[in-house]
Amino acid sequence: MRAAVLLIAAGLATTGVAGALVARELSRVGVHQGYEPEQPIAFSHKLHAGESQIPCLYCHSGARTSRHAGIPALNVCMNCHSLLTRQTVEIEKLKEAVQRRQAIAWTKVHNLPDFVYFNHSQHVAGGVTCRSCHGPVETMERIRQDAPLTMGWCLECHRTRGPELQRQRQAALNRGHPDAPIPGLDCGKCHY
Ligand code: HEC
Ligand code: HEC
Ligand code: HEC
Ligand code: HEC
Ligand code: HEC
Repeated sequence: MRAAVLLIAAGLATTGVAGALVARELSRVGVHQGYEPEQPIAFSHKLHAGESQIPCLYCHSGARTSRHAGIPALNVCMNCHSLLTRQTVEIEKLKEAVQRRQAIAWTKVHNLPDFVYFNHSQHVAGGVTCRSCHGPVETMERIRQDAPLTMGWCLECHRTRGPELQRQRQAALNRGHPDAPIPGLDCGKCHY
């Protein structure tokens, strides 16, 4: 009897530890390099951003001005697809959703944990290209997380770009221009 209780207690303790480990894994939601989930409509960046050369900011205009790059609403798609005549199964799905006024539930690919502050506009305004963080998106049939999105990855670039920007900043100051910000390494820049 006593042994059984101990066994159960031991079992609970083990699941407790396993639970904590699972919780920890789940808390590292951003760390999924190579993640390439199937999407509700087979939208191809290779076709749109690559072959058709539609600029990234045409669809992700938020990246210039705000924290999130954003996913375009279907009316952006219809700017072209209401004129294009080609029909495929995937385009049919798009047009059905538009008719039903239903948003597409795209699966989110990049997910930083909530305790990290990341802002697109700070980077895009600073001249950091989409490619340096998202890789060659214009060659991707299906979107994939290219970078590790770890803290080390953020810091690595801040360390290397910092001195370069410091020089630009000094040059700008010398020319009497207001200073350009340099990327920081202080914890408080990304965590608060
Ligand atoms: C014609 C519109 C369009 C263009 C142009 C476009 N995108 Fe997208 N992008 C989308 C849509 C729609 C999604 C969501 C569906 C998907 O994940 O494929 C998306 C998803 C993404 C994601 C993943 C978002 C997530 O869930 O984490 C990234 C990163 C991205 N785009 C970057 C780019 C870059 C970089 C370019 C330019 C090289 C670009 N996009 C050009 C429409 C576009
Ligand atoms: C300095 C690195 C960096 C640059 C530059 C960058 N991104 Fe991102 N992007 C990220 C990170 C990190 C996330 C995940 C953010 C999160 O989960 O809060 C992300 C997420 C996204 C998403 C998912 C939805 C959203 O709004 O968060 C899209 C779409 C996207 N980026 C598109 C772009 C496009 C287009 C450009 C260029 C105009 C760009 N990104 C430039 C790092 C970058
Ligand atoms: C600037 C114009 C433009 C925009 C905006 C645009 N597309 Fe397209 N799309 C095209 C062109 C061009 C093709 C190639 C087929 C054709 O010629 O009709 C295409 C093809 C497609 C296909 C067919 C792929 C296949 O072979 O089955 C799908 C699906 C698609 N687009 C979805 C979308 C979605 C979803 C959006 C909005 C997020 C979008 N498109 C926005 C121009 C555009
Ligand atoms: C490819 C290079 C690169 C990567 C990767 C990168 N950054 Fe940056 N970051 C920069 C540059 C350059 C700036 C300064 C831009 C400017 O204002 O001129 C900056 C600025 C910032 C700022 C503005 C505050 C400050 O320090 O002045 C924050 C916050 C920030 N980055 C967070 C992040 C986070 C979080 C990540 C990882 C998820 C990340 N960055 C990844 C290059 C990068
Ligand atoms: C440029 C942005 C940036 C700066 C600066 C930064 N961090 Fe982070 N940090 C991140 C990102 C992104 C993550 C989430 C990804 C990961 O866990 O690697 C993270 C994760 C963490 C975690 C959780 C790690 C884990 O294993 O779950 C801790 C703790 C942390 N940071 C502490 C710090 C401390 C302390 C500093 C200052 C010395 C600091 N960070 C500076 C971006 C940053």
